[in-house]
Order: sequence, then C-alpha cells, then structure tokens
Amino acid sequence: MPKENKNNNHHDDKDMMKLVDNLNRKEDASLNRRAFLKASFGATVAIGIASAPFSALSYFKGDGENDHLVEIANVDELGVGESKTFSYPTSENPAILVRTPDDRFVAYNNKCTHLQCPVFYEVKENILLCPCHKGYFDVANGHPMAGPPQRELPKILLEVKNGKIFAIGREVRHG
Ligand code: FES
Repeated sequence: MPKENKNNNHHDDKDMMKLVDNLNRKEDASLNRRAFLKASFGATVAIGIASAPFSALSYFKGDGENDHLVEIANVDELGVGESKTFSYPTSENPAILVRTPDDRFVAYNNKCTHLQCPVFYEVKENILLCPCHKGYFDVANGHPMAGPPQRELPKILLEVKNGKIFAIGREVRHG
C-alpha cells in the first residue's frame, strides 16, 4: 500500500511538473503573441508616419513621375498681365508662370514644342510666342494656335495657398 502511494505521489509530481511546464509554455506563447502584435502595431505606425508626406503629396494631381510641390512665387509678385520664368519639375525644365488679363495664374513648360526655343508671354496679344519661327500658343490652355508647333506645351498644375503659388504637378499631354 505505501508503495502504491509512493508511485501515486511520483505520478502526481510528474503531472504537476508537466502542468507547470505547459502553463509556462502557454504563458510564453501568449507573451510571444503579445510581443509580436506589439511589434507589428509599432511597425505599422512607423510605416504610416514615414509614408505620410508621400500620402499627402499623392493628393496632388500630376502625371505621377513629375508631381512634387515647389514654391514658385508670391501672389503679389506678379501684376495682371505679367509673367515670370522658373523651372519645374527639375532645373532642366524651364517654365513660365503668367498672371492673365482675367486675373488667373497659368503655367507651362516654355520650351517650344517645335524646336525647343524658349516661349515668351506677349501681353498685348495675350498669347505665348516662340520667336524662332513665330509659333503661337493659347495662354488659356497651351494649345498651338499658329506657326510650326503641333503639340501643346506641358501644363504645370498650380495651387495658391497662403499668398504663395506652388507648382504641384505637370501634365505632358502629347509627348
Ligand atoms: S522652335 Fe518654336 S516655332 Fe520653331
């Protein structure tokens, strides 16, 4: 009888050890799960914060590869009928900002779509003129009106905010 008891005690000890071991494992697993969830949440938040500026920029329209925000002028820098040159989206892309007679801001890359001469704003005729071969472009939309050019000038998308004018993207319409 005592022998049996001893065996039973032995089994009880073993069972108890197994139970404790299992509990420890369960606790480890739940700790690991919690740590994993915490780490995943942390990573998600970190990625969210890191990508926030890009998400904000993706709000701006454009042709994708060229859309980024660049401050180009103060609103009061140009009078009605005046223009200013700048570059967008890179320093290799000359552009012109015009404050039209009906008091709107428009902007285009100003390399003529014929043979790349610079295009200027002519306030008297309210047109964009390429003096090289007398190419005329409509200031309202950049479309060619007369002379050799056949393609529109790439249009720079603008946003006016807090008294400043920003280039926010570019539409290259026909190459
Ligand atoms: S380069 Fe502009 S019209 Fe020829």
